[in-house]
Amino acid sequence: MGYLTGTNQSLGGQVFIITGSSRGIGRELARQVLNAGGRVVLNARTPETLKSTHDELASEFDGGSIRAFAGDVSQPEQARGLIDHTVAEFGRIDVLINNAAVGHHGNIGNGDPAVFSKVVDVNIHGVLFPTWYAIPHISEQQGRVLIVSSLAGLHGLPSHSAYSLSKMALTAFAESLRAELHGTEMSVGIAYVGFTENEPAKRRYGPDGQLEEVPLRKRAMVTTREKTARRILRQIRRRKFKAIHSKLGLLVYNLNRISPGLVDFVLARAGNMR
Ligand SMILES: NC(=O)c1ccc[n+]([C@@H]2O[C@H](COP(=O)([O-])OP(=O)(O)OC[C@H]3O[C@@H](n4cnc5c(N)ncnc54)[C@H](OP(=O)(O)O)[C@@H]3O)[C@@H](O)[C@H]2O)c1
Repeated sequence: MGYLTGTNQSLGGQVFIITGSSRGIGRELARQVLNAGGRVVLNARTPETLKSTHDELASEFDGGSIRAFAGDVSQPEQARGLIDHTVAEFGRIDVLINNAAVGHHGNIGNGDPAVFSKVVDVNIHGVLFPTWYAIPHISEQQGRVLIVSSLAGLHGLPSHSAYSLSKMALTAFAESLRAELHGTEMSVGIAYVGFTENEPAKRRYGPDGQLEEVPLRKRAMVTTREKTARRILRQIRRRKFKAIHSKLGLLVYNLNRISPGLVDFVLARAGNMR
């Protein structure tokens, strides 16, 4: 089948749903898919920013290849709405990129535990529900589900336990789905994305449940959104199950098997996670 064979090569109108694509890595993924001749359904909860991203991309690419659906993918009916909207508009789904997530910062035992619960809920159910409803359609196209995880999906990060818990749960989900899809032409992958340049508009939950700015990271620790998106699309093209993006991610992954305590030390030194 005519899968993406390079980000500058035609996707022949394949239909991608990218959750959480009004900004950040999701928006860059949308841009690269459109640039390669694919069609995209954008998604985020805030209609105003979603519309402005839609309009921005429609001014760069063929507007007929772009749709937008405002909705919270951690709510089953809204996730189903995203899938139904895509099928109604484009008639098929080739790839679902589960990118939407919320960040959180705060130590265990500090602040409101309901905030932990909310982060876990959004980050897990926001992958479960769209995948659930998309599977029959993706299966028809022998397509692909891609889950965006993080360093936090490889090793629990200090002050990011809710986020780490949710991202690790996605590994279990991806493995179960891979086993269920064994012998079919449809496949799943999970990307352990490294620290990537954040947009100034990005917010995360603090311990009290208030949204706060995400502090800037040391430049040397961060990669660009373009590079991260390119790697995710390459993984989709190659149908690889697992991709660990950064050197720090590879270090954590390999060191974890030998000395998890040393990983704690490395991550504490890296500072300012997410
Ligand atoms: N940036 C990094 O360094 C980094 C590192 C590792 C992994 N990641 C992962 O990469 C992905 C994207 O990160 P990012 O930095 O680009 O994030 P971001 O800038 O915060 O963007 C998140 C996007 O998701 C949307 N969103 C959040 N909750 C949603 C929900 N329940 N339903 C639908 N849309 C929702 C947001 O819009 P609304 O708020 O309007 O809904 C926004 O469009 C996430 O899965 C993140 O965990 C990022």
